[in-house]
Amino acid sequence: MAMTDRTGDTSVSGSAGRFDQARFLRACRREPVDCTPVWFMRQAGRYMPEYRALRVHHSLLDLCQQPDLAAEVTLQPVRALGVDAAILFADILLPLIPMGAQLQFAAGEGPVIANPVRTDQDIMALRPVEVYESLAPVLQAVSLVRRELDGRTPLIGFAGAPFTLASYLIEGGGSRTYLHTKQLMYASPVAWHALMRKLARVVADYLVAQVKAGAQAVQLFDSWVGALSPDDYREYVFPYSRTVLSEVTATGVPVIHFGTDTATLLPAMAEAGGTVMGMDWRIPLGEGWKLVGTNKAVQGNLDPMVLLAPKDELARHVQRVLAQARGRPGHIFNTGHGLLPETPVDNVRTVVELVHELSERPMK
Ligand code: CP3
Repeated sequence: MAMTDRTGDTSVSGSAGRFDQARFLRACRREPVDCTPVWFMRQAGRYMPEYRALRVHHSLLDLCQQPDLAAEVTLQPVRALGVDAAILFADILLPLIPMGAQLQFAAGEGPVIANPVRTDQDIMALRPVEVYESLAPVLQAVSLVRRELDGRTPLIGFAGAPFTLASYLIEGGGSRTYLHTKQLMYASPVAWHALMRKLARVVADYLVAQVKAGAQAVQLFDSWVGALSPDDYREYVFPYSRTVLSEVTATGVPVIHFGTDTATLLPAMAEAGGTVMGMDWRIPLGEGWKLVGTNKAVQGNLDPMVLLAPKDELARHVQRVLAQARGRPGHIFNTGHGLLPETPVDNVRTVVELVHELSERPMK
């Protein structure tokens, strides 16, 4: 991989500097843009032939833990799609490894944690994480990608939110019902709060470290928080997400706060924090925007399954999302959740073009 710094500029810190005008960063700050910026969750991954080619010789964890490979995979969709932001290639579960989780990605099954956390003792045994040491490869990948992109495309860092990480730790993998998670929450609230405190500390340190390494925005993925009622969200999750979001927001970069199935949680999530609120397709974007307040930017919210539809259907669905945003400053186009492995690359490229064309407007 070529590593030349074409400008000789060595400042790669945060949002400061002369690359601040990218339309993605302007939209995060609710400034006017020439057209709506677009990127996709899981824009790197199995739907791309370049990614599948690398996966023949490297496991997912290899890709995440070797900075040059992680940087390469991060850049693949930027080259192939013309998206307005890069998202670091990593996984939300990586910080659980130095905490003590025996994590594996089993082929076809998703993540599996061999030693799920279920008791007080399990929670006490979780180790604090010195992120600059234990997650150094991820931070090196951030710096590599920043140098490669050279300011042309902003780089988004990310982490899993305390609730979503807790659910994987407790269940030992994905879950449909969150039985063990809710059992711990309701039956052992003291243990639950101790676990969430530990996770919030690691996540906040990890995101701040990514910003220091060069991430120009970060996204907090609370992918599975929609399993909770609004009251339970406020009692068991809100304080920890708020701690993370306020510490990261203090660095000055935009922070995207994302979950799925959050139509009833959006007001509380917005109160917990975030410069930009992510939402999925289950709520019309305009309604979601009202719930989070027009002092926030929004990100979303095309159903990723639409990208598997015949090509002539794409424009209609893209137009619907754009119509919900009504050209107001502060909309970042995205899918409501990650792209699926079955997605035709060409359709993704078409959606990028459609978003740009259909939202084009004169700069005020
Ligand atoms: O968006 C990007 O392009 C960056 C890369 C990225 C990955 N995981 C790589 C990955 C991001 C942002 C994530 C986040 C992540 N990981 C989330 C939150 C986002 C979401 O989808 O809600 C979650 C819940 C995870 C946990 C995880 N990792 C699961 C459930 C799985 C299995 C599902 C699947 O698609 O196989 C993974 C594996 C994973 N993480 C893959 C990728 C590209 C597929 C791995 C492969 O190559 O086999």
